[in-house]
Amino acid sequence: MILKQYYLGCLAHASYLVADEASGEAAVVDPQRDVDEYVEDARRLGCRIGCVFLTHFHADFVAGHLELRDREGARIYLGARAEAEYDFTPLGDQEAIDLGQVRLEILETPGHSPESISILVYDRAKEQAHPHAVLSGDTLFIGDVGRPDLRASLGWSAEELGGMLYDSLHGKLLTLPDDTLVYPAHGAGSLCGKNLSTDTVSTIGVQRRYNYALQPMAREEFVRVVTAEQPDTPPYFTYDAVLNTKERPTLEQALEEELKPLSLDEVLALAGQGAQLLDARDPADFAGAHLAGSVNIGLGGSYATWAGTILARERPIVVVAEPGREQEAAMRLGRIGFDNVAGYLDDGMQALEERPGLVDRIERITAGTLAEQLGGPEPPLVLDVRSEPEWREARIEGSSNVPLAHFEERIGELPRDRRIVIHCASGYRSAIAVSLLRRNGFDNLADLVGGLGAWEASSRETGAPAGDGRARLGPSPLERPLAGKNPALVVWTTEPLNAETPLELLCRSEITPTDLFYVRNHGPVPEVDPLSWRLTVEGLVREPLTLSLDELGRFERATVTATLSCAGNRRSELAAVSAIPRQVPWGPGAVGNAVWSGVRLRDVLIAAGVDEDARHVAFAGLDQAEEEGELLQFGGSIPLEKALSPDVLLADEMNGEPLPPVHGYPLRVVVPGYIGARSVKWLSTMTVQSDPSANYFQARTYRLFPSRVRTETSTREHGFPLGELPINSAICRPLDGEAMSGTKLIARGYAITGGREIERVEVSLDRGRTFLAAELLDGDGSGWRLWQADLEVAPGPGELVVRAWDSAASTQPEDPASIWNLKGYLNNAWHRVRFTATGDACR
Ligand code: MTE
Repeated sequence: MILKQYYLGCLAHASYLVADEASGEAAVVDPQRDVDEYVEDARRLGCRIGCVFLTHFHADFVAGHLELRDREGARIYLGARAEAEYDFTPLGDQEAIDLGQVRLEILETPGHSPESISILVYDRAKEQAHPHAVLSGDTLFIGDVGRPDLRASLGWSAEELGGMLYDSLHGKLLTLPDDTLVYPAHGAGSLCGKNLSTDTVSTIGVQRRYNYALQPMAREEFVRVVTAEQPDTPPYFTYDAVLNTKERPTLEQALEEELKPLSLDEVLALAGQGAQLLDARDPADFAGAHLAGSVNIGLGGSYATWAGTILARERPIVVVAEPGREQEAAMRLGRIGFDNVAGYLDDGMQALEERPGLVDRIERITAGTLAEQLGGPEPPLVLDVRSEPEWREARIEGSSNVPLAHFEERIGELPRDRRIVIHCASGYRSAIAVSLLRRNGFDNLADLVGGLGAWEASSRETGAPAGDGRARLGPSPLERPLAGKNPALVVWTTEPLNAETPLELLCRSEITPTDLFYVRNHGPVPEVDPLSWRLTVEGLVREPLTLSLDELGRFERATVTATLSCAGNRRSELAAVSAIPRQVPWGPGAVGNAVWSGVRLRDVLIAAGVDEDARHVAFAGLDQAEEEGELLQFGGSIPLEKALSPDVLLADEMNGEPLPPVHGYPLRVVVPGYIGARSVKWLSTMTVQSDPSANYFQARTYRLFPSRVRTETSTREHGFPLGELPINSAICRPLDGEAMSGTKLIARGYAITGGREIERVEVSLDRGRTFLAAELLDGDGSGWRLWQADLEVAPGPGELVVRAWDSAASTQPEDPASIWNLKGYLNNAWHRVRFTATGDACR
């Protein structure tokens, strides 16, 4: 006998294929609407699906009984009390269907719904009288029972059905032998109960002992207990329960109608006629840029449940998805009977490239920024969109709660004249809520990155409300739109602007888009008049130069792909070892790879004629930063030898566009392989000299102190100035703390060196006992190397570790504690992320 469970995590739904290989007969119980998997498995086993059972008319999804009937010729079986439009065979207590030696025997178990049945599975080749398992539908779950209060709108009271449930459990299911396996139709996360376990199989004996609803109690007490504190159910539940009794188009037929590519103008016309725009991309992508007026419900979460809750079934839906995922977006709507997709935006967001006026963005802020804003003169309203019980259990002090399930009906309660920061547990629900607010005309909004989880982690790290003492923060970034930068950036401080690329967007492409490129500023961005701007070249040169932009333009142009990495990149991991006060707590996103164009520094130095005693080239920018109570010009130097190498540029273009002001307009130095601080922006002076720069940012800071130096009495005799970058690598996907469905983990990240080649990137799933080689993705040979590892992981919590090797066989140290330093520079310890694999695929 084959008894296979299919668990669909996003709907917390379990279905079953039961087959007798000897006779080739198979049945499917409670199928999901996309039936390919059952059909393919049956074929592989050499079986034919002749029967399909519904244990009841499911309320939370549309079942695939009609699909199996039409595709495989399966006969539909329902409980004896069921009434349906289509042809079916009703089965009463003890009636049985035999698939060769396998017997499926019906137990009528009304309660969750009147027509509910459970199915006893006998493997008669092994045991004639003793059931192997019971497919308990929504009557008995692992740790719970099916709630009896969902049929109120169909004329059944919870008391009536609760009484029936009591009898079904005590009179039927609990009379089964203790070793009978229990296979329910739902697991944790289902709204069909309130206490469902994450286990997907159990036994009658274990349930008898541990299930709260099966403990000895009188019928009235049972009804009270199982109807109390049940979660809200979305309005589509009743619709689906009724739809499961009807004749309707199959999923294939519906998708054939729905999967129409639409031009942007067609989409806008449909929206004008009332269509709903559903953006199914990740929240971070949505925040970065989306078609104005669209609602974000990402495919990465309980997409169908939220789409069913938020969207109107009677109005057409237009999908915006990552190209290639439109079919999934429509199919997963079809699973809950939303067959009203009018089409999808052809080419996804690319279609908007020429129409920037239609693009809207959402600001995202970190826990630290929120903490600072809450302490400021105009604290924002913190809006928690989790359910009320979640909010009651733990919340950000002073937050208001409007659960997402009731969001649109309560939008009128929210202030329009005050900034609102929205959060949920981890960022999925809040992205939906923010998009709804934006669609309703709210404009002073921000989404808290990582939700309450990030807020709590940040509080733990600092021992105080998140962000305290970690970074200097300025006024609301909304008042100063981030200097043309993408609002999806993780903003640490706004004045000066310090922001890093969110990891989920960092390794998407070999070249980091300019608006997503991290920004590291020590002072305000200077305003530079390109006409009066001059670059002076002085010091140990035969002919000092003063060059205008036009004069620089006479040098041969050159283009280099180069990675910039801030010396403080990954500082937060060092700060977790021991506090690093007053420094920006960068994650691994203070790094980026861009195409830079300009002139070679070497050519300008040659034109000026370098003296024999020259050893270093010092740069100074036009900005001034406040340090230790003084205003100081930003600067630093590199050795002459490096300055003469052809890859060091005086760049006026980044990724094919003029250098944006925030990245150094009109001219910056780009020193590949060196800490970002040496790539001086808003360049005004170059001095050729015999010693390294005495500028504060080289002589006093950006120095590596030994680990034992714990206080800032250190001066230049402590430590040495930083220059070349060490080998380093980091994981961008999965994110730390990410829960993923399924057991296939596609990890991605970057590796960098200070000029050597990256030879190998390795990942480990056992904390570094063994390593597997990751695939190095194609690059153009300069800049970082992106890598990918396709891994199979065990369900449950796990940790992924990465380390890289370069062509000198240098690799990264294991432990950040061994390289902790006072300012938190150059953390290149193995990068680790924790993740949880739920073991069920949500596609
Ligand atoms: N140049 C000037 N003039 N002022 C600065 O504050 N920051 C430096 C460097 N050049 C800085 C500067 C640092 S520490 C880094 S990491 C890089 O610029 C960051 O470059 P980006 O902001 O273009 O990403």
